[in-house]
Amino acid sequence: MEERIKRNEFLKSLGLKGAALLAVYCGASACQADAGVTPASNVDFSLDVSTLAVGKYVVNSQVVVARVSSSSYVAVSQVCPHENLLALTYNGMNFYCGQHGATFNTSGSALSVTNRSLTVYKTALTGTSLRVYS
Ligand code: FES
Repeated sequence: MEERIKRNEFLKSLGLKGAALLAVYCGASACQADAGVTPASNVDFSLDVSTLAVGKYVVNSQVVVARVSSSSYVAVSQVCPHENLLALTYNGMNFYCGQHGATFNTSGSALSVTNRSLTVYKTALTGTSLRVYS
């Protein structure tokens, strides 16, 4: 008979607790997977995007800014609407959440896992300065 234990119980059985346990959950990157994060409603900042290559992204103030083509950028909240976790990235084609694998197109519409859309912010490019605002 197969016996399953939860990951948390397994890690605790290894003697991990507190910060060490959190480090295992979060890996090397900063873990901000706190449930209940709300997408920012008052966003307004500018970025120098001169070195941002097509297919790449940056995160600023919990906003993922992706260069989706040579002349266009998309800015969305880093908060995944599936469980409101700060976990969104851009994989070169779609926005992606590593928590449970949700994907979203560059319009912010859900493609898998959830049917909730991303919070999308406006962008305006002036020279190499991209303004992101709500
Ligand atoms: S929190 Fe993003 S897919 Fe579940």
